[in-house]
Amino acid sequence: MTGKKEIESLRPQLAQRHQEHLLAFWPQLDPRQRQELLDQIRELDLAKIDEWVEQLVTGTPIAEVAAKRFEPAPSYGAEPRDTGQRRKYRKAMELGDKLIAQGKVAALVVAGGQGVRLGFEGPKGNFPISPVRQKTLFRLFAETIQAVSRRYGTICPWYVMTSPLNHAQTVEVFQKENYYGLDPQDVFIFQQGTLPSFGLDGRILLTDKAQIARSPDGHGGCIRALARSGALADMKKRGIDYISYWQVDNPLVRLFDPLFIGLHALDGAEMSSKAVIKNAPKEKVGNFCRIEGRVNVIEYSDLPDELAEKRRPDGTLVFELGSIAIHIINTELVERLNAQAYSLPLHRAVKKIPYIDPQGHRVQPKEPNGVKLESFIFDALPLARESIILEIVRSEQFAPTKNAEGDDSVRTTRAMMVERAAAWLESAGVQVPRQPDGSADCLLEIAPSFALDPADVAAKRHVVPELQPGDQLYLQ
Ligand code: UD1
Repeated sequence: MTGKKEIESLRPQLAQRHQEHLLAFWPQLDPRQRQELLDQIRELDLAKIDEWVEQLVTGTPIAEVAAKRFEPAPSYGAEPRDTGQRRKYRKAMELGDKLIAQGKVAALVVAGGQGVRLGFEGPKGNFPISPVRQKTLFRLFAETIQAVSRRYGTICPWYVMTSPLNHAQTVEVFQKENYYGLDPQDVFIFQQGTLPSFGLDGRILLTDKAQIARSPDGHGGCIRALARSGALADMKKRGIDYISYWQVDNPLVRLFDPLFIGLHALDGAEMSSKAVIKNAPKEKVGNFCRIEGRVNVIEYSDLPDELAEKRRPDGTLVFELGSIAIHIINTELVERLNAQAYSLPLHRAVKKIPYIDPQGHRVQPKEPNGVKLESFIFDALPLARESIILEIVRSEQFAPTKNAEGDDSVRTTRAMMVERAAAWLESAGVQVPRQPDGSADCLLEIAPSFALDPADVAAKRHVVPELQPGDQLYLQ
């Protein structure tokens, strides 16, 4: 259909959904702008718009959570709980090691977010985080992937999801850094999709006369983007069965964890998760629970207070498992969801969204004026055939860098990186000087090339120098 004919057929469809204003500036647009706008309108899922507006924009969000019966979700402990489990953990480790060595596992980091809270220009993965060398998050992940590949004598491919907000910049960073020493053939950078943003009246906002306001479709968008971008086909070609998924903000993530992969595979799971024991009832993490027999994650903001505060007789929280957004996802599940034209539920976020008014003037709102929509990867958990949860020790694997200051900030993350390095050194018999408050009295950084775990440090104990208070030590 030619542009003109197509626009005439779209006009009534838009009007029917109260979105005809998207064409208000059409007569003023040049041919290139018309094409751009047309492409964006084609991308809109018109059939869904009424439902989204009604349920997520103008209507009162359905209080689904309150109506559901929540139970705590079962989990594997950070350590096996009895002899039977000890045997199972050993078997799982062996299986995990084998699957990694056979090249069945790929890495996937979701890095399409804006990182607004961190206040950092550019892709968050390019934030310099390591305590001594100021290595960026992307570099730390790349070096870990390289070290794992070397340890197992295999190639661990890395998939990086970006969004239109940071795709070009991310590719540029990888190119400038020579893919951090990885073979570019084994790094697949792909973009997630977008969803339109709405004014509070349910009308899609325009950011310019030919530009629809859109935002990335959330990390749940990776299911569709993996298929659309060709990343899933690339995985299949390489014989990948398991995707090791994590968020760009956690430099302590243990990528390619054989225990996690092994337990997941032994139990025939399709999507599994790692969890921490929450440090407060309303800690800002997702909460694992079981609803109608299936594992779900409920955001801290959606977990009713009485459930969040509920305790067992021994004082521990009933809903104690917090999500650290680390998963294993089977490629088969991603394929099946795409084949079924699945859709993950959308969540709304009320935000300040710049727009143009009917006269074409730009408005920078001072108050929230619209709604952005996104899907969350953890909403795929109940769609998985089986799902396990493995608890981890926070100080070993979880230091999210969310904020410029305060909790979960650059400072707390760096301190945790130093403390983990100190613990690994001490477990190998190295004396680490400590301050009166117990924290390490030196700056420590262990490169992934030196050690991926405490056992690696123990094996190289002889090359670690004596430490004095105030020292800076970088081991590579
Ligand atoms: C998230 C989880 C929370 C979990 C916590 C652990 C949600 C809603 N909450 O919180 O359950 O306990 O992390 O640290 O996810 N991203 C994309 N595309 C997008 C949006 C985000 O790739 O469209 C990526 C970001 O780059 C980042 C990750 O997803 O790597 C998380 O996004 P963010 O918005 O920071 O989630 P949080 O609210 O911090």
